[in-house]
Amino acid sequence: MAGRIKTAVLVSGGGTNLQALIDAQADGRIASAEIALVLSNQAGAYALERAARAGIPHETVLRRELGSREAFEARIVSLLEEHGIGLIVLAGFLAILSEDFTRRYDHRILNIHPSLIPSFCGEGYYGLRVHEAALARGVKVTGATVHFVNEIPDGGEIILQKAVPVEAGDTPEVLQRRVMEQAEWQLLPMAVEKVAGKLLAGEERA
Ligand code: GRF
Repeated sequence: MAGRIKTAVLVSGGGTNLQALIDAQADGRIASAEIALVLSNQAGAYALERAARAGIPHETVLRRELGSREAFEARIVSLLEEHGIGLIVLAGFLAILSEDFTRRYDHRILNIHPSLIPSFCGEGYYGLRVHEAALARGVKVTGATVHFVNEIPDGGEIILQKAVPVEAGDTPEVLQRRVMEQAEWQLLPMAVEKVAGKLLAGEERA
């Protein structure tokens, strides 16, 4: 049997996207990757609970305890290496990674963003703010994007996108939920399988 790409999921919060990956691994939609590590930069993030429940090794790395961004990233790198990680998924991870870090894992870091990039993305567009901006602009269609991570926030190569309708009367919370249900939770497992499959097949680029 072919191996699987050991994959780390980096989180900061509730971890519904992590849960989507765990579920996809359990039912076979993800077969080329193995979630081997969950890292949180927030103590007590509910995502850690989800990892524990699924029996996945999990760690918390706090930047304020480590002082500098360099020390924070060095700790992450040492954990990734310790666990033999070949693919990194940012799933609601709210820290921005340095160019040194993104170069080290070129085409091996995926991020999920809750809009159709290049709309409503880049620095400052995270969480509910993305949906507030979409509603303020009056777009009729939004969605989600999975992309590779490079040194530009939300600027890396796009892997998959899915559109979701905006409906009359939507609040940011209602729209956020629809984008998660109809796009994010389906798209992220598909993108992980796609990239891990290509890595397994020996291709460096997906
Ligand atoms: C999601 O909307 C994701 O697109 C964004 O942050 C949110 C994370 O939610 N990057 P969760 O922690 O996966 O529930």
